[in-house]
Amino acid sequence: MNLSALNTVALAMVTPGKGILAADESTGTIKKRFDAIAVESTAQNRRDYREMLFRSDGMTFISGVILYDETIRQNAADGTPLVKLIEQAGSIPGIKVDEGTQPLPGCPGETVTVGLDRLADRLAAYYALGARFAKWRAVIDLDKDRIPSMTAVHVNAHALGRYAALCQAAGLVPIVEPEVLMDGDHDIGRCFDVTRRVMNEVFRELRIQRVALEGMILKPNMVVSGQKCPVQAGVTEVADRTVQLLKECVPAAVPGVAFLSGGQSDALATAHLDAINRRGPLPWMLTFSYGRALQAAPQRVWAGRTANVRAAQRAFSHRARMNALASRGQWTT
Ligand code: 13P
Repeated sequence: MNLSALNTVALAMVTPGKGILAADESTGTIKKRFDAIAVESTAQNRRDYREMLFRSDGMTFISGVILYDETIRQNAADGTPLVKLIEQAGSIPGIKVDEGTQPLPGCPGETVTVGLDRLADRLAAYYALGARFAKWRAVIDLDKDRIPSMTAVHVNAHALGRYAALCQAAGLVPIVEPEVLMDGDHDIGRCFDVTRRVMNEVFRELRIQRVALEGMILKPNMVVSGQKCPVQAGVTEVADRTVQLLKECVPAAVPGVAFLSGGQSDALATAHLDAINRRGPLPWMLTFSYGRALQAAPQRVWAGRTANVRAAQRAFSHRARMNALASRGQWTT
């Protein structure tokens, strides 16, 4: 493993004033997003949509783009590989390598993320296609007091460790993403407790499996109230609890933390990141790796129409710029 090369890529992914665009929606998920704007989910429409983002000015604020298997192999309308467009914009191509979740036997309602079989071969192929980092998302559902079980936390952390070690052996920086969902009516305290349990287990597995912390990026949820909780914690409390959690659980050797947005509104995802970055100095770069919070606005504006491309690019660039400011703790309403 070339740790210095991995560390260089990891640091570039969290360049000050930039963050990551998660454009790695699976075919099923992008169909849901397209359904919401009445666009048919064809390979060409998916390509056109993503090409529009990768050619926008907002890429100035994007350090890396997470792609889906289909996208990393697609060419733009003029024949340029989409990977090349991303590189030309000064950004690093990355790839989602997990294969989604499956029910976890013995743990009703819980899942484990799959995709370890033949992962080493797939990583080598993705490296050859231009990817320099990868992503694997573990999903922890926080429903009632019954779950998450120790089993679900453990197997998901173990899989993250296996994935991360394989990535580093293949020369790819692993984005380690344990997502505690914000669905449900739990309060922020329970989100904190569960996220801490999960995070501690993840770092235990990373240590056991000899993952070099300097060559990875952590992609956690922020500590927030459940979406259906009657009392919603404010921005200050979210920032305080999130920073407290990171301080307790995340070794300083990790170069950066890039949060997921997880269903937060665009504005809140920006406000939270900004408030978190005002809590510095902290040992890690703290930035965004947003999917919905960067793309919901441009999707609405685009609605599948060529005439709307410029306006949709502006909408994307605006969100990217706001989040870039927040990554420096310099965002204002
Ligand atoms: P959201 O920001 O929409 O949660 O997506 C980020 C992501 O990559 C989830 O795996």
